[in-house]
Amino acid sequence: MVQAISQAPFAIVEREDFSALTYSLVVHHPMMARAARPGQFVIVMLRETSERIPLTIADFDRDKGTVTMVVQAVGKTTKEMQQICTVGTTLYALVGPMGVPSPLGTAKKVVCVGGGLGVAPIFPQARGFKQSGAYVIGVLGFRTKNLIFWQDKFDACCDELILCTDDGSAGIKGFVSDGIKRAIEKHSDIDEVVAIGPPLMMKACSEATRPHAIKTVVSLNPIMVDGTGMCGGCRVRLGDQVKFACVDGPDFDGHRVDFDDLIMRLRRYAEQEKTAAQRWSENCRMKNQIDPSLPDSLVSMRVAPEISRELLELPDPFDEVHGG
Ligand SMILES: Cc1cc2nc3c(=O)[nH]c(=O)nc-3n(C[C@H](O)[C@H](O)[C@H](O)COP(=O)(O)OP(=O)(O)OC[C@H]3O[C@@H](n4cnc5c(N)ncnc54)[C@H](O)[C@@H]3O)c2cc1C
Ligand code: FES
Repeated sequence: MVQAISQAPFAIVEREDFSALTYSLVVHHPMMARAARPGQFVIVMLRETSERIPLTIADFDRDKGTVTMVVQAVGKTTKEMQQICTVGTTLYALVGPMGVPSPLGTAKKVVCVGGGLGVAPIFPQARGFKQSGAYVIGVLGFRTKNLIFWQDKFDACCDELILCTDDGSAGIKGFVSDGIKRAIEKHSDIDEVVAIGPPLMMKACSEATRPHAIKTVVSLNPIMVDGTGMCGGCRVRLGDQVKFACVDGPDFDGHRVDFDDLIMRLRRYAEQEKTAAQRWSENCRMKNQIDPSLPDSLVSMRVAPEISRELLELPDPFDEVHGG
């Protein structure tokens, strides 16, 4: 891991690549580090013209004045960040901490569940529960052994750790919902389960705890635009209620969440997202054909102003969001 401390605003001071798709960015921001609480997120802009993307605060260090995000390169912006965000570079903007902090106060025994990328955002909650005196059982799920990250951090704050892999290459062979069932079989006094991961995973976790009436909290990831409760893009359904994840959440009662509605809304701009990613990767290919060593800014000035313009004029996936 490379490390270099810079005082520039939103400077990236550490980066680690966990796999071909997943990477962590540690950003220097002492005020954010002081204010951050488990369960909160930030909205990041890579450049002045970039879209705003929400990312969970996966860790914060008040002494060093840093916040950590763990990112999966799934589309245009997260792939662009994967290329550009190296140690010594800066983000254009980082807004937060946003969202309601997770209440950690009263539970005596909790199960903290993270699936895939969800392992990162569940970490501050597991650590927070431990610091508030709870007995913490961690359940972490990965597709395969090579994708495991941060096990050492969970070992340090969990009283028990159940590792699950889809292919059985590490821990138990199975999904995190199997890990939850195992924890429930062993402990009859679990007060709360907190689960973060893909919507289908959180749905399965909520179903695993429902027959036992164990309080289950999930952290929802609907499409967000402003993050202030104004646009309605992040609306989620809980029974007959509508909530905005950015200001009312992102944590909600898993037994009440309409996961099918969430999944449907997440797929709403799939076509536009695909087009944006394709155009961006075409632009990258052309840059490499010209001179791979040229910085992005020079390439777009010298060779492909029309491509840069085209990228800026991409259909905005949120144009049609009028109050959700
Ligand atoms: C509260 C919250 C916390 C999140 N935390 C993390 C995190 O810690 N790490 C991480 O990698 N990802 C996180 N996400 C998801 C992340 O914001 C999206 O992956 C990112 O915006 C995708 O942008 P893109 O241009 O790379 O991909 P795109 O191709 O634009 O989108 C890929 C998929 O990401 C989702 N998405 C797209 N735009 C948004 C948006 N503005 N808001 C939310 N989801 C979107 C959609 O499901 C879409 O299908 C979080 C989302 C929310 C709401
Ligand atoms: S992102 Fe929540 S209302 Fe706009």
